[in-house]
Amino acid sequence: MTAAAGETVLEVDDLRVSFPTDDGVVQAVRGVSYRLGRGEVLGVVGESGSGKSVMSLAVIGLLPGSARISGSARCCGEELLGASDKQLSRVRGRRISMIFQDPMTSLNPVYSIGYQIAEAIRAHHDVGREAALEQAVELLDLVRIPNPRERLRSYPHELSGGMRQRVVIAIAMANRPDVIIADEPTTALDVTVQAQVLEALDTAQQQIGAAMVLITHDLGVIAGHADRVLVMYAGKLVEAGTADDVFYAPRMPYTLGLLGSLPRLDAKTERLTPIGGAPPSAVNMPPGCPFTPRCPLAQQVCEREEPAAEPTTSPDHLAACHFSEQLEGREPAELFGAGWRDDVVVPGAEQREEAR
Ligand SMILES: Nc1ncnc2c1ncn2[C@@H]1O[C@H](COP(=O)(O)OP(=O)(O)O)[C@@H](O)[C@H]1O
Ligand SMILES: [Mg+2]
Repeated sequence: MTAAAGETVLEVDDLRVSFPTDDGVVQAVRGVSYRLGRGEVLGVVGESGSGKSVMSLAVIGLLPGSARISGSARCCGEELLGASDKQLSRVRGRRISMIFQDPMTSLNPVYSIGYQIAEAIRAHHDVGREAALEQAVELLDLVRIPNPRERLRSYPHELSGGMRQRVVIAIAMANRPDVIIADEPTTALDVTVQAQVLEALDTAQQQIGAAMVLITHDLGVIAGHADRVLVMYAGKLVEAGTADDVFYAPRMPYTLGLLGSLPRLDAKTERLTPIGGAPPSAVNMPPGCPFTPRCPLAQQVCEREEPAAEPTTSPDHLAACHFSEQLEGREPAELFGAGWRDDVVVPGAEQREEAR
């Protein structure tokens, strides 16, 4: 997974994105910072609506014109926010490529896949059609498409969903990008196909030596694939750390809740403990920690003050929680099991607050 830890290929700093709408301003991303090292895999996880896609679309300049964007996103030193279309089209595909949930948003139904891969190569490199098609065969082989040479002539509709997504991965790799952003790349696929496509993505990413931002609503997808993990909630980073930090020593109740919603092979009990309730609306968000109404540890301070992401077990393990130290050694079922519901008022919360 991790390659040279030193060099940064993508650096995002205090990224904020909002959308003015008739109902008010949607605060989709509220100040996210992260850095991605060369060859590193960063998993980004959070429920639907937490701002994962908006964050990535902002980085590659694909948000609608109505979006208000601030902060910074530098790829290999080059600032992308506010860059011209010309600048961005040079960066896209060559330095950063993107893989979306639905392969048909990336593929053109009227061209053969060989043609589409070859054109992706030719967009950035001065090579002839024949040479580009030879490279296309190698790329299809890299993502483990059987009989790659024959497959060049296939059209997208002749392939299964999993095979189509492999083609999209091949196109994303075509120009050996420094960064791949894969936004829910396996969400639209059957569970058995998901694992195979993820495997192909892994292999290709390692062969190319690209760094990857792997975005998913399902923490299970990034287990075993990500070096580091960012957990997003209501447009903010609420926990960040190595995969071990986040999976084995989470310091934000939301992360613990996500872990409890995950089927585990080593689980003592079969039962899952989902987090009750739903994330807040991104319009007119109340003050305080947005997880408060769903949080078994919540106290009065949580309603007033939104905690910043701060170092916990190590300088690089960040969590945004007033009570993060209380999570040490806790199991998901202790907090979210045993009848915990989002409308339950935690008894004794006020006394504990005063004692603090
Ligand atoms: N073009 C848009 N206009 C207004 N609101 C948007 C737009 N795109 C996304 N949003 C809102 O931004 C928030 C974050 O969305 P998104 O990044 O797609 O979430 P995720 O990818 O984590 O599921 C959501 O509340 C969504 O409704
Ligand atoms: Mg999304």
